[in-house]
Order: sequence, then structure tokens, then C-alpha cells
Amino acid sequence: MFSWLTLLSLCAWCFHSHDAHHERAMHSLGGREGSQSLAFSTSWQVLGPFQIGTREATWGADPLEYLGGFRALQYDPGAQFRSSLPTNGTARWSVVVATQTSGNSSSSSASLSISYDNVDWNFLKVVYGWAAVQYQAWARGEITVSADDNQHVILYTDSILEYWVDDVHYFGGDFFTYRRAPPVLHLTPGTHKIDLRLVRDVRAMGGVLDPTIDVVVEAQRVSGTLELAKPGILMSDVVDGKLASLIGSVALRNSGEDDIEIVDVQSSDVRSPVNTTNLGGKSRLVVVAGQTRPFAFNISLPTHNTSSVRFSITYKTTAGGDQLSTLLVSQNLTRRSIYDPHKITYLHPGSMASYAMLRPPAENAACSEGPNSTLPVLLQLHGAGVEADSDQVAHALDPVPDLCAWVIFPTGVTSWSGDDWHNWGFADVEAAVNSIPSWIDAVAWRGPGVDVNTWVVSGHSNGGQGSWYALTHRPDRIVAASPISGYSSIQKYVPYELWQPMDPRRTAIISASLNSYRHEMLMENAKGIPVLQQHGEKDDNVPTYHSRFLRQLLFQVGTNSNYYELPGKGHYYDGVMTTDQLKSFYREQTRSDKTTHTDPQEFSIVVGDPGDMGSKGGILVTHLGDPGQYGRVDVKYDSTLKSYTIKTSNILGLKLDERYMQHEGIGIDGQDIATSEGSNTKRGFLELSHSLEGSWKIGPLYQSNASTQHRHGRQLGSMTAILRSSGPLTIRHQAAETAHIALQVSRNLHQYFSADSKIISTGSWDDSPPGNLISIAIGGDAPPIVQPDFPIQVGTTSVSVRDSNGRWRRFGEGEGAHLGAAFLQPPALLDERLELVLWGSDVEMVAQVARLVPMLTGVGQPDFVVLGDSARWRGVEGALSLGFFDYSWNVTPSSVV
Ligand SMILES: *[C@@H]1O[C@H](CO)[C@@H](O)[C@H](O)[C@H]1NC(C)=O
Ligand SMILES: *[C@@H]1O[C@H](CO)[C@@H](O)[C@H](O)[C@H]1NC(C)=O
Ligand SMILES: *[C@@H]1O[C@H](CO)[C@@H](O)[C@H](O)[C@H]1NC(C)=O
Ligand SMILES: *[C@@H]1O[C@H](CO)[C@@H](O)[C@H](O)[C@H]1NC(C)=O
Ligand SMILES: *[C@@H]1O[C@H](CO)[C@@H](O)[C@H](O)[C@H]1NC(C)=O
Ligand SMILES: *[C@@H]1O[C@H](CO)[C@@H](O)[C@H](O)[C@H]1NC(C)=O
Ligand SMILES: *[C@@H]1O[C@H](CO)[C@@H](O)[C@H](O)[C@H]1NC(C)=O
Ligand SMILES: *[C@@H]1O[C@H](CO)[C@@H](O)[C@H](O)[C@H]1NC(C)=O
Repeated sequence: MFSWLTLLSLCAWCFHSHDAHHERAMHSLGGREGSQSLAFSTSWQVLGPFQIGTREATWGADPLEYLGGFRALQYDPGAQFRSSLPTNGTARWSVVVATQTSGNSSSSSASLSISYDNVDWNFLKVVYGWAAVQYQAWARGEITVSADDNQHVILYTDSILEYWVDDVHYFGGDFFTYRRAPPVLHLTPGTHKIDLRLVRDVRAMGGVLDPTIDVVVEAQRVSGTLELAKPGILMSDVVDGKLASLIGSVALRNSGEDDIEIVDVQSSDVRSPVNTTNLGGKSRLVVVAGQTRPFAFNISLPTHNTSSVRFSITYKTTAGGDQLSTLLVSQNLTRRSIYDPHKITYLHPGSMASYAMLRPPAENAACSEGPNSTLPVLLQLHGAGVEADSDQVAHALDPVPDLCAWVIFPTGVTSWSGDDWHNWGFADVEAAVNSIPSWIDAVAWRGPGVDVNTWVVSGHSNGGQGSWYALTHRPDRIVAASPISGYSSIQKYVPYELWQPMDPRRTAIISASLNSYRHEMLMENAKGIPVLQQHGEKDDNVPTYHSRFLRQLLFQVGTNSNYYELPGKGHYYDGVMTTDQLKSFYREQTRSDKTTHTDPQEFSIVVGDPGDMGSKGGILVTHLGDPGQYGRVDVKYDSTLKSYTIKTSNILGLKLDERYMQHEGIGIDGQDIATSEGSNTKRGFLELSHSLEGSWKIGPLYQSNASTQHRHGRQLGSMTAILRSSGPLTIRHQAAETAHIALQVSRNLHQYFSADSKIISTGSWDDSPPGNLISIAIGGDAPPIVQPDFPIQVGTTSVSVRDSNGRWRRFGEGEGAHLGAAFLQPPALLDERLELVLWGSDVEMVAQVARLVPMLTGVGQPDFVVLGDSARWRGVEGALSLGFFDYSWNVTPSSVV
């Protein structure tokens, strides 16, 4: 499909005659064992190592791109490449034999383990820390199809971020080995070249043992039509004979070459069929060729006693006229006692089904005052790479069976909790908690009720970090927190040393895009909330330093916290979540008389992104001045005078919840606000806004009927705000050339976030509410800019950006300009929706900017980025312009234009 590279496969495989061993080794298993129709080579040509920064690969930063890319290079054992890591500053080709290959008539796999002994890793680590054992390399092998006809295959790429198959580029891969959305390939008979970009990541691959890169590629023959991407149905457990929740979901993959439309889903057990035309907003569910989509539907149990449910999915191909086909799916039921941790399902705001494990308050817990009482929620957030339905997670609190709380073990959507429990993963936590009332209905629960707004949060490792996130972003909802063995921020976990060099102004922009996730900056938000910290003294996975450091900061901001360092203990052991101190903490903090907390008389709120920040002490920050900088609010309450004294910095808008704030006066930045005119008798919210002239007034920052759009609510934040979609994301594009990128974006959203996205290809840029939009365009076909006078304008081969002084700067004039842009904008139909535009002067540059669609955490995409060609090797410094939009969608002074 992509033809900008015209390497002949013959030429890519010219070998040096002196390398006889190598040539022999390139013969694949398939050649020797005729029964295999697919076979990977056992021997791979590897070139490396080169330097890479933590999560930098998304930006490009591949030194071989300076030489035209690995794909343009051929194996040459004599060739030398300059590199900052190895002895003599020289990287070379080598041949690596796959540690394991296996295969049968329908699949083949190869495992590679790459290591370098010409790098002094230990000394580099002394200087640069864990950043030093992250590096990149490339590997080339091949897959041979020995059958006589084309083979439909899926390609799993465990621990791989980027690769080429023949001359087609794939970004995204499967860095965390989810195996959720492999690409579908239609391979012709013969040999196909596979180039793998290998990127080492300490968080995924460890920092203590030898820094090897271990990856697996596996090809499996598939049906060439609609099939299950995952066996079975995601559905709730059956508790005491009743289904705990009604939502079920299947993952469907179209492994054919025509688009497929789902016509109907019917239970084979239940009489009344589900009619897809009645599915809210899903009237025409299309799975485009090569796409994987989750498909949620209502489930009910048949009346007879059964051990499984069966559904048939009716579909047709868009090319096949009205001919219908059927796919069957069944799922064995898991039956549990209602008091045991069990699986519940619900819809994530992104419209796909997710699950959590729920343990309702115990039958004989001594806290129940009957069905009229409400108990708090106790959250346990899991660590990276762990499934919530594993015994390790779901039964972690078995030693404390009698808690007066609704215990939830959320997934955060994936075993890496989506985006480390941030935008997407945290929305899943909230959806899980908010589904408890439907569970109460579904199972006709007669025990105590739930207070969905009162949480005790705890978690281990990545979930410890998630607990810090919950504590610092939902302070009014959290009554207590116990972050266990957690890290304070990804930058503190694995330092961002060793990125390609860049202007410190750019470093500041990348870093500011991660402001909301730097918990060490947000500790003040925890004031007044009891915190119990615990960390193993000998933890070599998440250094104990993180907990010691945050403990010190908690003290400095006046937070009441206890710290337990477990002598001799490592990162994890059975029982780490139920030490004596934790057991008494859970009991103490969930006691019903504890669950209303009083705010301190004096506190501060620090905000990185108002889009994901809740209130503290009833005060919500609605807008920052410059979103590239933290905002802060210092609050002092005088209980005698019943007056608030507020001081702000970088804040444009506040919302005060007067239902909880008893007061007779507010002074803000030295100005007295006469609240009588603003607060009406029924005491609701009071909005305060800061005018350009520097004074505060009662009322919103702008009129909602104003002719220009203003950024608010879910639209706020850096590029990751696109993940705050209410409804499935829509990926729209117009040309055959962009179909591959649209599919890639959809695949990555599903792979990394389990997200659903619909791909639409129309000539008219039709909008498709209610979810957020990702629009992909080349040259002069950009989607309409809705905001009058929007500060980014794309031409056919140029992009203009208006800086904060109103001056336009034009990039990429003239013939042959290679240019791309990724930027947020408000779409035509609003309601806090957001659009991410991916534009390139040519298809290669669209592919370059499509890398920036949020996927891995820690990448630091700001609101807009204009990329030049050299980003492929220079990384962020290859961006021509990047930065943030303020509340009226103007470029901020902190941006680089
Ligand atoms: C070291 O580098 C020089 C110059 O690049 C090269 O000629 C020499 O072969 C290299 N030595 C080794 C051991 O790689
Ligand atoms: C081939 O191997 C794959 C992966 O090991 C396995 O899933 C599949 O069932 C095997 N198929 C046959 C026909 O043996
Ligand atoms: C589904 O519902 C639509 C609208 O209610 C109706 O027109 C259609 O006939 C139904 N389809 C089936 C298979 O029942
Ligand atoms: C599923 O059931 C819920 C609750 O009964 C209902 O509101 C919803 O419309 C149903 N959805 C579908 C797809 O039938
Ligand atoms: C349903 O079947 C299970 C196992 O076959 C059996 O133990 C149970 O008693 C049955 N329940 C009813 C209500 O028939
Ligand atoms: C479902 O249950 C049946 C009967 O107990 C069993 O044979 C089958 O292997 C089970 N299927 C799965 C996927 O566990
Ligand atoms: C619970 O509340 C209902 C309605 O307010 C009331 O009728 C009932 O007596 C209460 N039950 C208990 C046990 O307090
Ligand atoms: C918007 O609403 C405000 C107050 O409701 C009114 O004063 C103003 O004239 C309106 N502006 C426009 C452009 O309609």
C-alpha cells in the first residue's frame, strides 16, 4: 500500500558472500519442514545498540533515520555506525539466532533475546541510573509462506513498539504483550521481510538484571472473515443464581479484506433477540477490514438452570450483498457466593464494557445499620501487568473479611490500568464505583447501601501510584489513602536523561504536558486526609526512595501520615496488602463515623490540569491561565468571622460549592467579593472568574452564548484529553492512502486501552457525536476548522501558527516540504467534545504525526505539535512548533512558535 520506498525485496536480501554461516542460517524452518505453511526465520540480522530516552521512541529519535532508516540498510558485518553507547562509539550488525522458534500448520513464532556486551552498562548506570539500561536496536528477519495461495494471518508482536512488514510501516505494536489487537496481514506465497524496532523500557522489562531485550513475533493463520479476537464473552459472574450485571461484550476482529456489518446479536437461550438497530448509537456497527472492535450487548440468563450462555452474531460483508453469516460465541458461567469477590461489568465512558471485582459488605460485619445505612467504597488498585480477576488481586483482602465497606478491585481497563490509572484508567474506576447501585438492583441486595462519593483508596506498585493520583485529584472524595510500594511519577521512576538534546523550552513543554501526573508536586492536595504509606526496604522494582521522598513532602505540607518500611522485604509478597498496620487502617478508616472528613482551616490546591481535577474543600479550579504551568489556590478559613481568604496564582476560574462552604464573605487576591448577589437562596455553586484587567468577578469566565468557542471541562488538558471521550471515539478520514493510519490508530486504541472506535471514511468530514473525533488528513483535504480565527491553519503543504502576540508564523513553504501537525480543536458539535487533527503534507508525515496519538504514558504530547522531517532522528527537537492553547483556544506564551 505504501510505495514511497521502492526497495526491491531481492536487493534487501543481498548477502555478503563471506558470511556463509549467516546465509545458511537465513534458511527458515519452513524450508526444512514442509508441513508448515508459515515460518519465521531462525536467524535475524540485528543492528544496535543506540541511545533512547524513557518513552521517547514515540517522538521518533531513531539515529538510523538520519541514514534513511533501517529499512534502507542492508546487512554488512563490516559497516560501522556511530553510537553513544558501545566501546569505541561504534555499533555494528550482528546475527542473532532466535532463542526459540515453534510452529505447526497454522502458526509460527520466533523469540529473540538481544543483549550487548560491548557496553559498560554498570558504569553507565552509576552515572545515568536506570535511564542507561534503556536502548534501541533493529532486527531483520523474514516470514515465509510456503502455501500456494494467499494467507490471512494475524501478527502478534510482544514487547515491540514499531515494525515494518515488507515496505509497510506499523507503529504501536504490543509493548505490554496484551495480544488484543494484532494487525491482519494478507501474505502472498514467498518470503516477506520483517524489520523490528527494539526499544528497551525499564518499567516493562526491569532494571536490575542484564539489560536484554526479549521479544516474540508470532503469526497465526486466521479465518479471513469475522472472528472472535478473544474467546468467550466478557460478562459478570452469577451470584446466588442471579447475573451480577447485564452488560456483556465480545471482541470481534475482521480478518478479511471487506468491511463487515453486524446485523444482529441473538441469545441462543433467551427468546427475545437483541435488535442491533435499537442499540443506542450503534445502529450500524461496522468492523472495517483488519479492525478489532469490542461489541457490548445486554445479557440475561435463560430461565432454565444452565452452566453457559450462547449467542449468535449475524453479520454481512459490505461486498457480499445481503448474504448473512453467523458467528457463535459461548461462555461458561462462573457462579459465586454474593459475599465473595466476583466479576461485575459496566460501560466505561468510552462506551465499551469493562469489568471490576466487587466484594460487598460482609453479611456479619458489625457495621450494618440496615439497608438505610450507606457504606464507603474501599478501592484496591492493582499493579502493572496484573489482572484484577487473579487470586493475587481479588483475594488480597480475604484476611480482612469483615470490613464495613464496598471493596472494589478495578481493572483500569487493562492489566496496565490503561494509562496508569490516569485519564482513561481513572474513568474506569469511577464507572466501576458508579455501577454499584445497578448491582444492588440486579441482585436484589438487601444489605447496607453505598455512598459512591466516599472512598478509601489503596493500591500496590502502579496501583500505589494510582492511589496517589486519586488522593491528589479527588481530595473531597477520599477519606483516607494507603499507597503501597508506589512511585511518585514516571519521571522519578526512570529518569528522562538520555533523550535527544533539545531546547530547555521544549523540555519544559514536554514536561508540563505531564504536570497532572507528577504527584510530588501535588502533595498539598492531600492535606487533612489520613495517609498510610508502606514500602519494602529492599524493593528493587519501585525504589523505596519514592515512598521516603513523598513521606518527607507530606510532612512539609502538614499532612497527617504514617510510614511503614518493611525490613528486608522486596516489592511484593503474599500478604503485602494485609499487614497488621494495613488491616487496622482499613478497619479504622471505613468506620461509619469516620467517613465525613473535615477540611483543614488552611489548605492549598495545586492543579496541573483542571480537566482531571476534582474539588478540595468545595473549591474547584475550572481554568488555568497558562495550562503549561501549575495553578495554585491558597485558602484560609476564619471560623469566627466565617470568611474565606483566597490567594491564587495562574488561576482564571473557580467554582465554589456553597452547599458545603458556610461563609459570610470571601476575599480573593485582596478583593472582597460580595457574595449576596451571587448566592441565591438554594445555595449551589458560585463561579468566580478573573478578568484580563486583573480583578475577580462573580460569574463565569465567558458567556456560554459567545460566538467563539471556549475550552472547558473534559476538553482541558494536553493531548491526552482526547481520551476523555463520552461515547466511542470516531476516526474519520477521506482517502485510501489514510486507511492504513486510521486502522493503526483504531488498533492502538484497542490494544492499549481496550477502547472502541469507529472508522468512517467519507468525503464530507461528517461529524459523529457523541464521542471525541480523530481526523486524519493529507495536504489540502484537512477537516474544517470550526473556531473562527483558530491559531493553527493548515494549507496544502504548509502550516501557520499564530503566537500569543498575534503574529503568524508560516512553516513549510515551497515545494517538497515535509511537514505534519497534530493538534486539538473544538469539533463542530460541542458538548465538551474534542477533536484531534492529524495532518501531513504527505502520507509519510501523517504516519509521523499519528505516532503522537496518546497510547503510552510519559510521552508528554502537548496540545499542538508541528513536526518536521528531522523528528524521525532528532525527536522533540525536530518539532517546528509545539505548545498549549489557553481557555479561548489561543496559543499560550509558554509555547514554542
Ligand atoms: C574503533 O573505531 C575505529 C574508527 O572508527 C575503527 O577503525 C576501529 O576498527 C574500531 N575498533 C573496534 C575494536 O571496533
Ligand atoms: C498451532 O500452535 C498454536 C500456538 O502454539 C496453537 O494455538 C494452535 O492450536 C496450534 N494449531 C494446531 C493445528 O496444532
Ligand atoms: C429491529 O428494530 C427495528 C426498529 O425498531 C425494526 O425496524 C427491525 O425490523 C427490527 N429487526 C429485527 C430483526 O427484529
Ligand atoms: C440494556 O438494558 C438497559 C437496562 O435495562 C437498557 O437501558 C438498555 O437500553 C439496554 N441496551 C440494549 C442494547 O438493549
Ligand atoms: C442447577 O444445576 C446445578 C448443577 O448442575 C445444581 O447444583 C443446582 O442445584 C441446580 N439448581 C436448580 C435451581 O435447579
Ligand atoms: C465449559 O464447560 C464445559 C462443560 O463443563 C467444558 O467441557 C468446557 O471445556 C468449558 N469451556 C471453557 C472455555 O472453559
Ligand atoms: C428505612 O427507610 C425507610 C424509608 O425512609 C423506612 O420506611 C424504614 O423504616 C427504614 N428502615 C430502617 C431499618 O430504618
Ligand atoms: C449572551 O447572554 C448574555 C446574558 O444572558 C447577554 O447579555 C448577551 O447579550 C448575550 N450575547 C449574545 C451574543 O447573544
